[in-house]
Amino acid sequence: MSQPILELKDLDVFYGPIQALKKVNLQIQEGETVSLIGANGAGKSTLLMSIFGQPRAAAGQILYRGTDITQKSSHFVASNGIAQSPEGRRVFPDMSVEENLLMGTIPVGDQHAEQDMQAMFELFPRLKERRNQRAMTMSGGEQQMLAIARALMSRPKLLLLDEPSLGLAPIVVKQIFQTLRELARSGMTIFLVEQNANHALRLSNRGYVMVNGEIRLSGSGEELLGNEEVRKAYLGGH
Ligand SMILES: Nc1ncnc2c1ncn2[C@@H]1O[C@H](COP(=O)(O)OP(=O)(O)O)[C@@H](O)[C@H]1O
Ligand SMILES: [Mg+2]
Repeated sequence: MSQPILELKDLDVFYGPIQALKKVNLQIQEGETVSLIGANGAGKSTLLMSIFGQPRAAAGQILYRGTDITQKSSHFVASNGIAQSPEGRRVFPDMSVEENLLMGTIPVGDQHAEQDMQAMFELFPRLKERRNQRAMTMSGGEQQMLAIARALMSRPKLLLLDEPSLGLAPIVVKQIFQTLRELARSGMTIFLVEQNANHALRLSNRGYVMVNGEIRLSGSGEELLGNEEVRKAYLGGH
């Protein structure tokens, strides 16, 4: 296998005395869509945030394209090709859609801003209609689209998404996953954290299942969709 774009090796993360990640091992190859599923509190967001060094790993390693980034600043990580759409779609509420998108260019500079904004408006036509609207006045689904588009404005090589379907109506979830499928087809490497295991695994080449800070299972999206334990715990038993 070629060098992974991202590799976590025996990663331990603590919040004070509480160990949130326990010896986590995980690899993502360039061009893959990989999902991390698990219940609320399993450690999924902690894992994503630790890639940006917040929280910092207590032990283990995070390699990005072969470079050890375990002790790097979040600015270093962002300006070298990793972007994140955080849980709870934290857009800047008082800023317009365009202003939010511009904020996404901060790690890399705004020389491609105009061109990339047009590309985002093609990917998310809803954002184009609302380009001058303040983010706080938009629906949850529109804010989620904006959070993803803002992350893409830094032209990442690896896109991290934390629960993009959280709290959204089924039809909006479908739209968002449709767009993620388009992005994946265009060659973007996507690492997706989801409680919505069904949508996530159907989109993904591979997946990991996290339980109490540990990777419990891994396999192809199809294998995990057919796995008894996954079906019982995350797919409503069907
Ligand atoms: N800032 C924090 N301080 C202390 N404990 C935290 C903090 N953030 C998360 N935790 C704890 O770490 C564990 C993993 O949380 P999290 O990564 O948010 O899980 P998930 O994203 O899978 O729901 C939980 O027990 C949670 O309560
Ligand atoms: Mg979370």
